[in-house]
Amino acid sequence: MSAIKALFVTSEVAGLAKAGGLGEVSAGLPLALRRRGIDIRVLMPAYREVIAKLPDIDWFGTLPGRAGIPPARLGEARLADGTILYLVAAPSLFDRRGTPYCTPEGADWPDNHLRFARLSLAAADIAAGRGGLAWTPDIVHANDWPGGLVPAYMRWDGTDVPSILTIHNIAYQGNFDAGQRHGLGIPDAAFGMHGVEFHGRVSFLKAGGFYASHVTTVSPTHATEITTESQGAGLHGLMRTRAAAGQLSGIVNGIDESWDPGSDPHLPHHFDPVDLNGKQANADAVRTGLCLRPSVGPLFGIVSRMVHQKGLDFVAEAANDIVENGGQIAILGLGDPEIEHMLSRTSRRHRDDIGVLIGFNEPMARRIVAGSDFTLMPSRFEPCGLTQMQAQRYGALPIAHATGGLADTIDDGATGFLFSTLSSGGLVAACHRAFDVYGDEGQLADMRRAAMARCFSWSGAAAEYEALYRRLAGPRMAAIRPRPRAVEQPITACDTAFLEPAA
Ligand code: ADP
Ligand code: GLC
Repeated sequence: MSAIKALFVTSEVAGLAKAGGLGEVSAGLPLALRRRGIDIRVLMPAYREVIAKLPDIDWFGTLPGRAGIPPARLGEARLADGTILYLVAAPSLFDRRGTPYCTPEGADWPDNHLRFARLSLAAADIAAGRGGLAWTPDIVHANDWPGGLVPAYMRWDGTDVPSILTIHNIAYQGNFDAGQRHGLGIPDAAFGMHGVEFHGRVSFLKAGGFYASHVTTVSPTHATEITTESQGAGLHGLMRTRAAAGQLSGIVNGIDESWDPGSDPHLPHHFDPVDLNGKQANADAVRTGLCLRPSVGPLFGIVSRMVHQKGLDFVAEAANDIVENGGQIAILGLGDPEIEHMLSRTSRRHRDDIGVLIGFNEPMARRIVAGSDFTLMPSRFEPCGLTQMQAQRYGALPIAHATGGLADTIDDGATGFLFSTLSSGGLVAACHRAFDVYGDEGQLADMRRAAMARCFSWSGAAAEYEALYRRLAGPRMAAIRPRPRAVEQPITACDTAFLEPAA
């Protein structure tokens, strides 16, 4: 089988610029696909912090602008793991301080529509063979709303390369005022229900969901959920249509191999399924770090973006009950200031038992997960979730709402606890099940070992994406592969004899 060439388009890559799970997927999945022989290359914006982190960028090409989208330069760099990274540089859009999406103060950049249209157009141009690259993809794999216009520009430009849009979070849609469409080079005919229009606005995610050859999301359960009115964020009709056509599926993410409790350099104490002693020592280190009182009760951990999706208000309501039953809670997160304040207030009410750290800090995240007996994830919805997989690897049994990827990756009663009633009461009831297990040393150790033994590597997801790439790109690759030329058969001795004129 010939190697498939894939262009992976993303707005974040862990280690360069990351805001959440997408960054980790963009680092882990391409590497796993490369190990399967896919010639996959990653395209992302040349944010200021990315350029600062990459010493050797080869600026090899240029791309024209379109409508209000400025021209760009294309650069190439090689990551430490060997991944080829293409960078789209447009200094007026990307050379600034802040996160991929927000100002340093946390507000969305007002020109996000132009910034991610610039990224998307670059991907479409590369797919069309422009930009000075001696390489064109057989398939383009775009992610989330920042990549939503990739399949759209490809369609409008008549570029016959299949595309995938992976929706990591359907709640973030990239919807902008209708008037912006002119500056984005969107044809008038495309501004309708069968195109980029969504409730009178331009929607990047709708565009990708409509024009991509195939749509995926990050767990099978969530692929079904987004076809429902309650979880489709207004796009359930489109998702239902795609599902009916066999063009919507769910593939569960993996987690990075560095999540290994036996070797993680960020942990004060290592442990493994055979020797779990280090876990208690890590818990004590977390207690000391967060100024919690010494305790032999269970430690409940939370590492999360602080946003409505994650259901942290249920934790604030359940906190009294957890503390009254002898539990403690360690929280690390960053996000919506209201949620940050809510949890800080909860912690002030229980200074000795609940500690909150506001910030984004990966070593700290790993220490909290390693020290926790249980991990709380009462998410209202969770397309996949990485934290519950990391938690299982570190024996911190997840207590989670049975939704999306949480339902798909937690084995209720064996590697964690799932609850179906989304309320603080539902969470408290699940915590009581956890308290019971904590009181039974044998059962606790069995569950921890079962959780730690689960395989959440990227290889499973990569095999599924490869099958999808082959299904979508295979027919076109076969059609354009140069036909073998009729080769003249060499004359063998036997033939020569045959050709000998008869005497
Ligand atoms: P989402 O992408 O919705 O935020 P995921 O569970 O898919 O949720 O991924 C979140 C990732 O970000 C996990 O790897 C988690 O460990 C990490 N993370 C979340 N919040 C923090 C934080 N405050 N500090 C460090 N890492 C964090
Ligand atoms: C999104 C989702 C999360 C998922 C991540 C990576 O941020 O909220 O559930 O794990 O993307 O796919």
